[in-house]
Amino acid sequence: MKELTPREIVRELDRYIIGQEEAKRAVAIALRNRYRRARVNEAMREEIFPKNILMVGPTGVGKTEIARRLAKLVQAPFVKVEATKFTEVGYVGRDVESIIRDLVENAVRMVRDEHEAKVRTRAEVLAEDRLVNLIVHPPKKPTNNPFQMLIAPQSSSEPVISDEEKERLRGRRDEVRDQLRKGLMEETEIEIEVSEKTPELEVGGNAINLGDMMGGFMPKRTKQRRMKIKDARKILVEEEAEKLIDQDAVQEEAVRRAEQNGIIFLDEIDKVAGHGGGHGPDVSREGVQRDILPIVEGSTVNTKYGPVKTDFMLFIAAGAFHVAKISDLIPELQGRFPVRVNLKSLTREDFVNILVKPDNALTRQYAALLETDKVHLTFDEAALKDIAEAAFVANESGEDIGARRLHAVFEELLEDISFNAGGDEMPDVYLNITPDYVREHLSTFHQPMDTRKYIL
Ligand SMILES: Nc1ncnc2c1ncn2[C@@H]1O[C@H](COP(=O)(O)OP(=O)(O)OP(=O)(O)O)[C@@H](O)[C@H]1O
Ligand SMILES: [Mg+2]
Repeated sequence: MKELTPREIVRELDRYIIGQEEAKRAVAIALRNRYRRARVNEAMREEIFPKNILMVGPTGVGKTEIARRLAKLVQAPFVKVEATKFTEVGYVGRDVESIIRDLVENAVRMVRDEHEAKVRTRAEVLAEDRLVNLIVHPPKKPTNNPFQMLIAPQSSSEPVISDEEKERLRGRRDEVRDQLRKGLMEETEIEIEVSEKTPELEVGGNAINLGDMMGGFMPKRTKQRRMKIKDARKILVEEEAEKLIDQDAVQEEAVRRAEQNGIIFLDEIDKVAGHGGGHGPDVSREGVQRDILPIVEGSTVNTKYGPVKTDFMLFIAAGAFHVAKISDLIPELQGRFPVRVNLKSLTREDFVNILVKPDNALTRQYAALLETDKVHLTFDEAALKDIAEAAFVANESGEDIGARRLHAVFEELLEDISFNAGGDEMPDVYLNITPDYVREHLSTFHQPMDTRKYIL
């Protein structure tokens, strides 16, 4: 995989996030710095710690979205947690170390997928062999037939097969294999033995797999299941791949990657800011910050894949900081987030861009959705401006929920057509959204203008 330069990272993020240049640049630099760090000499490398980022900005302007896109982009192990999660269950709450366990799980899944892709072809061949064997049953174990025992007493557990029988079986196998390859047997049902999942236990918010815990001492339980060949194949391929993969290597690499490339996104960090006044919710808030501190500062967390060091993981924290200020965080934690970036409130123009520019823009989403019901949706440019305006006004007069408002506005705008589309008797509909359509369907335009303006 090619390492992206900061410019390239920003360009990729631009495909999904409008504006917020400062935040995009900061995360891009932080990312590139890890690549740079990996290439300096070892003694120096151990001295270089990631520069954690604190994103500050109102709700719905892209904080979470940037982090999510970033992780996808660089294929780094990633977890997102709400800091408030750790207050729900009282003072201690969910074990903060579980963040790291989740991250490693994530890394294991990622590395295993990669290894699986490498052995896939071979696993498919092996799975096909097993399928063929399941379909062409070899003769069953010898019966208690005394006559048979007489002719082959020394190998009573080995089935006795004559040469003709062998020849016949071989022919049958080739036939079945051929049919399988042509996809002629996909719907045929067979019986296969599948292993049952070992039970998981919840202990203090951590799922513990009993099988893993006992290090494979628990006998694997299996059961017979009937299923279609196409489904059985999937299971067999997976089983074969599992056998081909070096699990130890996967775990080792996963731990390494979590340690060196892991990204932890701590959302809602402002909600746990507060002075330790002595009583009330502040006590637990500060407690949460103190709980989080060790993993941000660098510590070792025990996981079922072994000890994992958090020293070089990148932490990105985010919060609106409407009520609490950054200075309300405990100083030790503040100090661990040296890179501060501000995300700005979105303008009318940003809204218009958000509606059309991102690869997953709302206009595209709705067009794709309605297309499945033969409604072909297009938008006048002037109409987009009006939609953006409606969202902007709604944010100003009600609660400011940022770009999330656009979702609500769109639902309202297309409620009519969303409800009526669909069904065989419905012909193709070509719907161009015009300013008139917007005015007709959005309640914002029905109400008299914001009266506060007149009072002032
Ligand atoms: N700058 C932006 N460009 C494109 N889409 C955006 C932008 N900001 C927000 N969105 C859209 O709005 C939605 C909410 O944004 P996001 O989850 O990033 O908000 P947030 O800043 O994390 O808010 P909160 O503080 O409430 O968590 C996203 O699904 C995204 O599609
Ligand atoms: Mg968010």
